[in-house]
Amino acid sequence: MVSLQSKWRYIFMFLGIQLVVMALLSREGYQRRVTYFIRIFRKSDATGSATRNHTAASVPASDVYANLSGLFKGHSHKDDMPYCPATSPLIGGPIHVSFPSGLTLAEVQKKNPLVLRGGRYRPPHCEARHRTAIVIPHRNREHHLKFLLYYLHPFLQRQQLNYGIYVIHQAGNYTFNRAKLMNVGFREAMREEDWDCLFFHDVDLIPEDDRNTYICDSNPKHAAIAMDKFGYKLPYKMYFGGVSALTPLHYLKMNGFPNNYWGWGGEDDDIGVRVSLAGMYITRPSLKVGRYKMIKHTLDKGNGVNPKRFNMLAKTRQTWKLDGMNTAEYEVISRQYLPLYTNITVNIGTEAGLHPTRPEPRPPAKNLAGPHAAEAPLDSAKQEDVRSDE
Ligand SMILES: *[C@@H]1O[C@H](CO)[C@@H](O)[C@H](O)[C@H]1NC(C)=O
Ligand SMILES: *[C@@H]1O[C@H](CO)[C@@H](O)[C@H](O)[C@H]1NC(C)=O
Ligand SMILES: *[C@@H]1O[C@H](CO)[C@@H](O)[C@H](O)[C@H]1NC(C)=O
Ligand SMILES: *[C@@H]1O[C@H](CO)[C@@H](O)[C@H](O)[C@H]1NC(C)=O
Repeated sequence: MVSLQSKWRYIFMFLGIQLVVMALLSREGYQRRVTYFIRIFRKSDATGSATRNHTAASVPASDVYANLSGLFKGHSHKDDMPYCPATSPLIGGPIHVSFPSGLTLAEVQKKNPLVLRGGRYRPPHCEARHRTAIVIPHRNREHHLKFLLYYLHPFLQRQQLNYGIYVIHQAGNYTFNRAKLMNVGFREAMREEDWDCLFFHDVDLIPEDDRNTYICDSNPKHAAIAMDKFGYKLPYKMYFGGVSALTPLHYLKMNGFPNNYWGWGGEDDDIGVRVSLAGMYITRPSLKVGRYKMIKHTLDKGNGVNPKRFNMLAKTRQTWKLDGMNTAEYEVISRQYLPLYTNITVNIGTEAGLHPTRPEPRPPAKNLAGPHAAEAPLDSAKQEDVRSDE
């Protein structure tokens, strides 16, 4: 009898410890794991959400280009125009999103006659109240980019924004690094214009409601709150992935994004933790408005799951000031001002640095990035000058 009782006592103690460990994990930003664990014990409602209505209930979804045709007449941007109204009259609510197979970039261009070189736009009849840069980390996703541009241009025009679209293209075949590309995007976009808001945007997420305005809040905003792949719900409270919006001040306050997350996963949680470590909090649009449709795809080649992501995440508190915008090293390889976007192609190196294959770092024959490079390439350019003097 006694031994049976003590066995039960051990079992209860064991369960108690499990609870405490789960509580601690969830405090440290491991919500995804914990919710997954909890979900095992809950009745699955996944089948329910799959058949749920995919357009927001009351208003019918409209064509994203529907309201824009009036803009094309007699446009000429003048200097003394009045400010645009606080709420754009072109906003129509839910947008119908589908992915027709034959779409080409030339068609997207034809449908957006007011977009200027490099993917820039200003409302033709009023002075925009907001300047927003869209930063899209990219590699080998031209197919998705085409759809995103098809929807994003008219979406932003409906919101009467002054905007620019930057595609940050990772050169080479080394493992993809989404967060570092966003650091590059931040610096390169801010170099070109005094943007007051930056939207960090996955290439495969299409906004489904234009009341989800692409302007910044007083705190970092997570915009992709309701994705179809998560049944139009937030997967966990600290989730910060997909589409997020920060002012330059927010960005610098949290030292940008981490540079050391190579491969899929973890970096968005790290960014979420940085927000709170920097004394800010995450704001969100409503579930009704922050809706996104994800273009389906398999995990890319060269973007395997990052096995170190949980260990790294646990150390964010120690690392966020040492790794981020202040240490982002890269070389801009090319900058193309294309009709629908600016393509910035960049070498972000590997875990071993910018030029890992060279035994002894030698200055590049030509300073690829010009004055735009981070500290290291500038130094090597200086060395080269000294040598040519000799
Ligand atoms: C989805 O919404 C439409 C329009 O609101 C409605 O007619 C239709 O019955 C709904 N479908 C489902 C499966 O709820
Ligand atoms: C924009 O679209 C919405 C809904 O489709 C409509 O109610 C509104 O009147 C339109 N506005 C303009 C300026 O066309
Ligand atoms: C990347 O991979 C492709 C095909 O797998 C190859 O053709 C190309 O040369 C590689 N590029 C570099 C920079 O290694
Ligand atoms: C960007 O430019 C690079 C270098 O010219 C090119 O290889 C790449 O395909 C371009 N990417 C996009 C999305 O335009």
